[in-house]
Amino acid sequence: MCQTCLSWYARCVAPYLVHFGCSARAFARMRERVIPLAQGTVVEVGFGSGLNLPYYDPARVTRLVGIDPDGTMLGLAAAKTHALPFPVECLRAGGESLPLADGFADTVVVTYAFCTIPDPQAALAEIRRVLKPAGRLIFIEHGQAAGPRRRRWQHRLNGLWGSIAGGCNLNRDPLALIRAAGFRLVDRQHGRFPLPLWHLGNHHAGVGYLR
Ligand SMILES: C[S@@+](CC[C@H](N)C(=O)[O-])C[C@H]1O[C@@H](n2cnc3c(N)ncnc32)[C@H](O)[C@@H]1O
Repeated sequence: MCQTCLSWYARCVAPYLVHFGCSARAFARMRERVIPLAQGTVVEVGFGSGLNLPYYDPARVTRLVGIDPDGTMLGLAAAKTHALPFPVECLRAGGESLPLADGFADTVVVTYAFCTIPDPQAALAEIRRVLKPAGRLIFIEHGQAAGPRRRRWQHRLNGLWGSIAGGCNLNRDPLALIRAAGFRLVDRQHGRFPLPLWHLGNHHAGVGYLR
């Protein structure tokens, strides 16, 4: 595909496709389990189209900062923020360089974004920096499947899938990434995606505390 078509696809098609895909029931079931745990000043990295917004508990959240480098996704999210009972600010930036002070957040939320962020280790280092010492990382991710045969398919499909789905990688290991960044994982939940989404591999949700 020519460069102009690729950038048109990335701007005008991929964000809507990702929004539609991430609205599936399988994702919503995990969101409703862990997003209500967020409290205080919350930073959501890879905010996307704001699909977590309905699951935040207004009695616990005082303020939310949603961060994403994709202006189209942020526009979809911003349209949903007006009726919320807590203030929401949308910032256009990558997770690898968060425009926030050290110790800014009580909670950082990342859902289905460590698969897409080009340098997830750098983003996790930034998340550590902006979290208060007693802060928590709440995450939901998909990643490597358990069985070797499925994993091989994930490796084969990775490039094609990434070019369709906004740079999403099928073959990352989100739990290993989060642990390697110095988080202790608790409240972990696992699942598998239903058949049409089998290529997304294992489904993980949990809470990470700074070690
Ligand atoms: C699959 S979507 C998930 C969106 C949302 N978190 C959700 O749960 O529906 C991945 C998101 O990661 C964002 N993203 C891509 N590169 C990023 C980066 N460097 N830092 C932060 N977010 C990034 C994309 O723009 C996209 O909104």
